[in-house]
Amino acid sequence: MKIIILGPPGSGKGTVAEKLEKNLKFLHVSAGELLREEVAKGTSIGKEVKKYLDKGVLAPNNFVVEMIKLEVKDKDNYILDGFPRQLDQAKAIADLKIDLVICLDVPEEVVVERLAGRRVCSKCGDSYHIKFVRPKKEGVCDQCGGKLIQRKDDNPKAIKVRFKVFHQETEPVINYFKKKGILKTVDGSLAPEKVYNAVKKVVEQAR
Ligand code: AP5
Ligand code: MG
Repeated sequence: MKIIILGPPGSGKGTVAEKLEKNLKFLHVSAGELLREEVAKGTSIGKEVKKYLDKGVLAPNNFVVEMIKLEVKDKDNYILDGFPRQLDQAKAIADLKIDLVICLDVPEEVVVERLAGRRVCSKCGDSYHIKFVRPKKEGVCDQCGGKLIQRKDDNPKAIKVRFKVFHQETEPVINYFKKKGILKTVDGSLAPEKVYNAVKKVVEQAR
């Protein structure tokens, strides 16, 4: 089964996708995570990509589409997190034959608090929150023992840009999938366990 998960910055896409990967054995493919890995490698492409990520604007379409297609080549059980988030990207993956698109609906004031308290693993990228999703040991990733840090684009200036990009570029993508009849919206403002259970139900119904 091929799933896309979309939603505003900090809506919980990564958190839900990580659980789907762990519990239902989906491959979790996060566009943002793959791009951050590219930056961490320090290659010339990584240096170029960093400029977009730090500002909170979208990286070039061709590059991102190619990167994702390579990642899912010959696979048929995956969840695309944060991709596509631009209409041309959505049209460029028509051949993947996506089964289900889940949109997490969360009010802006809620996600701002989530982003302010988010901590991510510097090694594996897993997401935590200082209040809502606490690791067993403060500052340390439950999964791999990596150090928890703040993401570079979780600053007020970049967050503002990310929201603007979501409204201008990604909302039309959500409407595009709605018209195709494969969109399901889930209330993402509830507690993490409740959001996950609601998403799981939608996935099981579509299977
Ligand atoms: P990306 O990494 O995808 O960032 P984003 O869309 O801004 O989303 P986030 O990862 O910030 O949030 P999330 O929804 O995953 O929430 P999370 O689960 O962490 O993209 C980054 C950048 O990469 C983009 O700006 C762009 O430059 C580039 N990029 C990415 N995709 C691209 C594309 N397709 N094309 C071009 N460029 C692209 O949760 C947030 C926090 O809340 C955490 O602390 C978490 O623990 C907590 N939390 C989660 N769920 C709950 C809950 N239910 N209740 C309380 N707290 C919760
Ligand atoms: Mg994420």
